[in-house]
Amino acid sequence: MKNIKVVNDKDAPIAIFDSGLGGVSVLREMVKLMPAEDMYYFGDSANAPYGTKSIDEVRRMTISHVEEFMAKGCKGVVIACNTATSAAVRRLREMYPELPIVGIEPAVKPAVEAYPHGNILVMATPMTIHQEKLKHLIETYGGEANVIPLACPGLMDFVEVGNVDSPELKGFMRDLLYQYVGKLDAVVLGCTHYPFVAKVVREVLGDEVEIFDGGYGTAKEIKRRLGEQGLLIENTTKKGEIIFENSIKSQQKIDLFWKLLKM
Ligand code: DGL
Repeated sequence: MKNIKVVNDKDAPIAIFDSGLGGVSVLREMVKLMPAEDMYYFGDSANAPYGTKSIDEVRRMTISHVEEFMAKGCKGVVIACNTATSAAVRRLREMYPELPIVGIEPAVKPAVEAYPHGNILVMATPMTIHQEKLKHLIETYGGEANVIPLACPGLMDFVEVGNVDSPELKGFMRDLLYQYVGKLDAVVLGCTHYPFVAKVVREVLGDEVEIFDGGYGTAKEIKRRLGEQGLLIENTTKKGEIIFENSIKSQQKIDLFWKLLKM
């Protein structure tokens, strides 16, 4: 554990972290809710995917990135990655209890509230699917619903290269989901990359299946946490700045980041 101080400065940026570009689906909700805030987005695409690595490795990398954000002077952190959240958020809260830190988790609760007796598919990375955190979430909120976890290795890679609508992606999705066609009420997108391919999920499963993701809930939660600590910028028409960094330094990643943010 490093000797890093928690920043108590309203004007400091909020850090948003993902294994790559998926967290942009959370960032866009944050920008809508808190347009005056400066946001510092960091994607670790050089080490992606996280979802097929060991929990220890993901925990170590996530903690080290969060410590860098604190050293840079960020006032709060959003772990916009379900995989990194399930591996590291509890440990980070123990290490830095004063830091406003919010992780994203699969939106099982709202899906079950909408379909208490429904068939609900949870799509996520292999690590998220096999973690205690998801089992606990399903035990706590699953109630009478039939909640079906589905590991989707390989799906995030499409989004990482900007492939969000192609015959190849559609074929991949059909293979992944064909056995559920006509059998579902709802789908929970439990990886922040997946909202960018929601259209293809809908094409395969049909429009009658409702899709849930945790982006808006996570944005609301960091807003609440910062507000509670007097760290929100309020009553201003100022437009916040968005800074993007990635462990792969390429123009292609920068262009894709802005493209996804506008989607
Ligand atoms: N975007 C990440 C998530 O929400 C995972 C993608 C990966 O495997 O790195 O789980």
